Amino acid sequence: MASRYAEVYGAWQSDPVGFWEKAAGSIDWMKPWDKAFDETAGAYGRWFVGAECNTCYNCLDRHVSRGRPGQPALIYDSPVTNTKKKYSYKKLLDHVIAMAAVMKDHGVEKGDRVLIYMPMIPEAVMAMLACARLGAVHSVVFGGFAAHELATRINDAKPKLVVSASCGIEPGRVVPYKPLLDDAIDQATHKPEACLIQQREQATAALKIGRDNDLGMLMQQALSAGRQVPCEPVAATDPLYVLYTSGTTGQPKGVVRDNGGHMVALKWTMENLYGVEPGEVFWAASDVGWVVGHSYIVYGPLLHGATTVLYEGKPVGTPDAGAFWRVISEYQVSSLFTAPTAFRAIKKEDPSAQHLQRYDVTGLRSLFLAGERADPDTIIWAEDILRVPVIDHWWQTETGWCIAGNPLGLGPLPVKRGSSTVPMPGYHIDVVDEGGQPQEAGMLGNIVVKLPLPPGCLPTLWDAEERFVDSYLSEFKGYYKTSDAGLLDEDGYLFIMSRTDDIINVAGHRLSTGAMEEALAGHQDVAECAVIGVADELKGQLPCGFVVLKDGVDRTPETIEKELIALVREQIGPVAAFKKVLVIDRLPKTRSGKILRGTMRSIADGQEYKMPATIDDPMILEEIASALNEKGFVKSS
Ligand code: COA
Ligand code: AMP
Repeated sequence: MASRYAEVYGAWQSDPVGFWEKAAGSIDWMKPWDKAFDETAGAYGRWFVGAECNTCYNCLDRHVSRGRPGQPALIYDSPVTNTKKKYSYKKLLDHVIAMAAVMKDHGVEKGDRVLIYMPMIPEAVMAMLACARLGAVHSVVFGGFAAHELATRINDAKPKLVVSASCGIEPGRVVPYKPLLDDAIDQATHKPEACLIQQREQATAALKIGRDNDLGMLMQQALSAGRQVPCEPVAATDPLYVLYTSGTTGQPKGVVRDNGGHMVALKWTMENLYGVEPGEVFWAASDVGWVVGHSYIVYGPLLHGATTVLYEGKPVGTPDAGAFWRVISEYQVSSLFTAPTAFRAIKKEDPSAQHLQRYDVTGLRSLFLAGERADPDTIIWAEDILRVPVIDHWWQTETGWCIAGNPLGLGPLPVKRGSSTVPMPGYHIDVVDEGGQPQEAGMLGNIVVKLPLPPGCLPTLWDAEERFVDSYLSEFKGYYKTSDAGLLDEDGYLFIMSRTDDIINVAGHRLSTGAMEEALAGHQDVAECAVIGVADELKGQLPCGFVVLKDGVDRTPETIEKELIALVREQIGPVAAFKKVLVIDRLPKTRSGKILRGTMRSIADGQEYKMPATIDDPMILEEIASALNEKGFVKSS
């Protein structure tokens, strides 16, 4: 099929507002908008101003009343607990109403924040949708973050209520969540009024009288009583959620997502980008704690009337490297979305894809990859074994949906491996130099998006409009700064090469080296430190820390290194995968005192590097190289 991409992108270019007004026809509104786009509102304009709507209504109620009550909405597949459950649209709606009733009983009202700290269980999805129903604002925190990170988010979002579970389950170990939550609330200056705890049999939690409540029991009561909670009309511009993402400092950024524009954009992508029909099964193998989970485990598929899969397991080890193929065949998954690292993990364990022979995956039509750059080797391997288009697409927590991709629903464009293909309607991408001047095709530069951003993208940061403008809008006037560097080739294909800030990407998880440096600097013996991301075959990047000790410290470097690893795990969480750290005598710096992180990274990655002209003392680089070699931390090229 010839691609309609050029025609559709052209239609957006010639009438950007009309394009999204037309797309908005697929959403049920309680009150129409006064202005589809008001350029005078917000930091760069706001979408669907004056309209009222409810995201939960569009995800559930309308499908129940219009012919899909019995269709599976959510399939929960949990190899770590040997559980499989299907929720039809009607059943999911009933559970979401029950959850909303319980939240209401705890005083949650429109505009209140509810923090959700949960493993991949159906109650996490129900809690998100219940918030949407009440017009409350959810903030989901990924389960792999530890108490300190949780406390930071509690202080910023100031939730009235926390919804959590007694434990999460990682292969081979149960992770009690409740002690982490208790610790976080102790550390936080803001105290939530109540906590709802889903008890799991693998590790039940002690509940604090007066604060904690048994969520399962309360939901059961609400279900038995047939409680009803109507959908609260909210402004299209009201926040649906705040999702914290790593910034360059230890203070994460609270990305705000609105209700109206978000629905319009996600619904559009289900058909036109992913090429999925209502009624089909869409599986995003991610976690509800990440943006991919928000957009494509929960909201996108449900807005579209599709079936979504909630998978509590890993690509390997639960129980083997055939896990993804089992899920695809068991539920007739038509499209899979995951991070390249998941495929690298499968390939490492089962290079000739032996496990695939046990399953029928012929229902699969496409594989979408995002979260990190998809390396050509992984793409080729996936194409070879699955024989479906493998699509790399680029986006960020901030945008909530794809900036550049290959729109399968409009008819695929030729694939250039290593490129995330072309901008989606709504995005005008330029590559500019440091001064904001457009670069020629093929030249590397800063990737920027011309304002206004399309519906679905962040209008601001939670309670931090000034930080929003400073971080994203002020450096390149009239543009949103993505903090990714790359190039557009002569065919307009986009290649993402690296971040321009201190963010690293570990197993598709976005992490701040600045936050890790803050944790290391908190150790009593550390005088100064630097954390860089070094290349890793499986996870893409891994953090590596370098520390200089204070004068007079007499404990062994090995002891201190162990403490530092434990410190980052305790403060940020296991998700940081911080396992490499070296005590060194001094850090390489420029004469003005700037740490040469880029050069250190090149040394660790085994790449050629130029001696920086401004370096204070070139000898230090040799010291770094031999320290890395001694530990076996250098990648052999
Ligand atoms: N709760 C508690 N701990 C968690 C957790 C959670 N929800 N998620 C991860 N962790 C822990 C892991 O157990 C691991 O701990 P360890 O250091 O004791 O081994 C650590 O955090 C790192 O986890 P992870 O990055 O998942 O690494 P892994 O080695 O367990 O698995 C992959 C590697 C590639 C299999 C895994 O990262 C994966 O499936 N990635 C898929 C990509 C993805 O989900 N991307 C999200 C954006 S699309
Ligand atoms: P997150 O906000 O966690 O989704 O991470 C966003 C960042 O991940 C981007 O700014 C990129 O640096 C990186 N990223 C995401 N998808 C891709 C991709 N397809 N190709 C290259 N980098 C990507």
